[in-house]
Parts: sequence; structure tokens; C-alpha cells
Amino acid sequence: MPRRLKVALLANLKKNAPKFPGMSEDYWDDLDSETTVEAILGAIRQGGHEAMFYEGDSALPGKLSANRPDICFNICESHFGDSREAQVPALLEMLRIPYTHSKVLTLALCLDKPMTKRVLNWHELPTPAFQTFERVDEPLDDDMKFPLFVKPSREGTSVGISEKSIVNNEQELREQLKEVFERYKQTALVEHYIAGREVTVGVVGNIAGFSARRLPMRLYGTKRRTPGDLDDIRAGGMLFLPPMEVDLKPFEGSDQIYTNRLKTELAEQLTYLCPAPLKPEQIEELNWLTAAVFRVCGCYDVARVDFRLDETDNYKPYVLEINPLPGLAPGISDIVIEAAAIHIGHAELVNRILDAAIRRHGIQ
Ligand SMILES: Nc1ncnc2c1ncn2[C@@H]1O[C@H](COP(=O)(O)OP(=O)(O)O)[C@@H](O)[C@H]1O
Ligand SMILES: [Mg+2]
Repeated sequence: MPRRLKVALLANLKKNAPKFPGMSEDYWDDLDSETTVEAILGAIRQGGHEAMFYEGDSALPGKLSANRPDICFNICESHFGDSREAQVPALLEMLRIPYTHSKVLTLALCLDKPMTKRVLNWHELPTPAFQTFERVDEPLDDDMKFPLFVKPSREGTSVGISEKSIVNNEQELREQLKEVFERYKQTALVEHYIAGREVTVGVVGNIAGFSARRLPMRLYGTKRRTPGDLDDIRAGGMLFLPPMEVDLKPFEGSDQIYTNRLKTELAEQLTYLCPAPLKPEQIEELNWLTAAVFRVCGCYDVARVDFRLDETDNYKPYVLEINPLPGLAPGISDIVIEAAAIHIGHAELVNRILDAAIRRHGIQ
């Protein structure tokens, strides 16, 4: 049992986010609510620690230097910049203050969906075929066949994703590219549209002390995956939460995608199936892929991997993205619902993440 630590929760409250002219309504939808911040503070105190909250803004360095915590529980998304989620971790490393969740490179990488997909491709992990666009008139590669899916490269919480993200022809593609450039001012990611089921898998803990950003089977001296790999990963302290499926069938008009509107306005009407009705071997496959993605991206302490299961190909899983800062809103966020399905409450989930980081940093 670690001693009573001084833990600073670092987060960006949606209500404190800067406003600017022409900002889209969903622009800050990935930031946190006061309810979430209060719940995490309460959880850290229940874990026997002292807890305080600091907004992750430009005043943070002064606050941290004046009142130095033993460790930070860092869930800052930050506001501006291509690698905004990596800013606070970089600062904490400069100040030599330990923190939870993934580190600088991982947070910068995973925020950039195309870069992450390049890493996944290199490791032959399945992710939808894709092309990036910087301009509306760039030609579409021959192997990119409609229907396609258009999204911003560096957002979360389905910011910039609506029914119009599915494009069926050149004209729809060009309109949607224009929309992404104008509203979100960033590269657009165009992927093959995967029709099928929507499943997400959360993990808590670590696979090994240091992450070499390679496939987990290489940990055990093999080049190929062996049946015991997942057992070893579990024995090493990684907890796989049960997969959660979002039942999109009732939302006919939205073409079966998990839009920003569903994640925010309509969240209460959604049915979450957890554990998702999948065969044990499908669950093990998803767990393996989650561990592999966690490891090749260099994640620490917690993450959530989003999948689509292709209904045209025997529900083959495709990785859409990895979230190294998965939402922790009580009763709402995916990993909170997954943990509840195995009787791990919000406070215990938060403390498991914190304890994983405390162990990893060797804090006594
Ligand atoms: N290639 C795709 N095919 C089908 N649906 C997709 C695809 N990419 C994204 N989606 C839909 O959009 C949602 C959000 O996309 P995702 O890449 O997970 O971004 P975010 O970071 O906003 O969660 C997914 O949960 C899924 O419903
Ligand atoms: Mg997602």
C-alpha cells in the first residue's frame, strides 16, 4: 500500500475553454465536466490520498512549482496545437513530476489518427485502408473505393463526425473535405467505410516496466503470437475490461455511426451492451489486438481501443483508433461502463489507474 500522496488532478474543464470567432459548437466536446473532475477528486481521496485540481492552462507551471505534487493524475487534452495532448506531459517531465497515463510521444502519436494508422500498418495490425487529404482537389487513390468515411485527423468524441461523414461519390467526398478543412483547420482522414458493429475495449495496467513499442509477443522471445501470450499479459498486471458494444440499430437515419450527436445530446437514449454479445474467441481476438495496439503505441496505465467489426467479412475487427486518455465521466464514459460490468466502480477504476502509475514510477 503506497503512502498518502499529494495527487494533483490536471484536466481541462469545458467551461474554462477559450472561445474564438467561427468556432463550431462541438469544438470542445472532448474536454471534461465539473462532475467528472469532482468524481475523480473524490476517488483519489477515497484511495487515501490528498487531492487537488489544477486547470491545464498556461498558469499551470507556476501552480505546480509553488505546490509540488508527488504525482499528477493527468487527463489534460489542452486547447491548441497539433500535439496538444502531449503539452502537459512534456511540462511535467521538464519539472520532473511523475504522472499517470501515457507519455509525450504516445499522446502526440495517438492524437494523430493517420500517424497512428501508419504505425499499426507497419505492425500488420488491421485498420481500415486510408488516404490523407490536405486540399479539396487532391485525386483519390485508385484503391480507395466508395463508400468512404471522412473525418478530421486530430479530434475525439466524434468531433466533426456526422451522417455526412459517409460519402458515396466524388461530389460528397469533396463537400465533406471542404467541411473538415473549414471547420477544423487540419488534414482530413479518409478511410474505407466499415459497415458493421461498433465495439470498444478498455485496459488498465501495464504490460511490462518499459514499453519498447513492439508487439507483446516479442516480450516472450517469440516472433509469432502464441496461445499463452494473453495469459502472460494478464499475469503481468494488465486488466482487460469486458468489450462494450454501442447498439446503433435504433438510429436508422444516422447510418449506424457513433456521431458526436449520439455521444452528447442523445447519450441517454443509447443502449450499451456490456459485455458485448460476442463469442469467447472473438473477445480474445479483440483483447489481443488491444494489447498489441497498446504496446506498439507505447501506452501506459490505461487506454481504450475502438473497433468496427466488418459485417461483410465475418465480423473481422478493424482498429479505428486508440484513446490513451479515455473519458472518465461517471456512468457515461465507455470504460466506466465496462468496469461497472465487472463490479469495478468509478472510484476503484480511478485508483487502479493511479496505482498502476505509482507502481510504474516506483513511488514508495
Ligand atoms: N472507417 C470507418 N468506418 C465506419 N465508421 C467509422 C469509421 N471511422 C469512424 N467511424 C465512426 O465514427 C465514430 C468516431 O470515429 P473515431 O475514429 O473513433 O473518432 P473519435 O476520436 O471521434 O472517437 C466511430 O465510433 C464510428 O462509429
Ligand atoms: Mg472513437
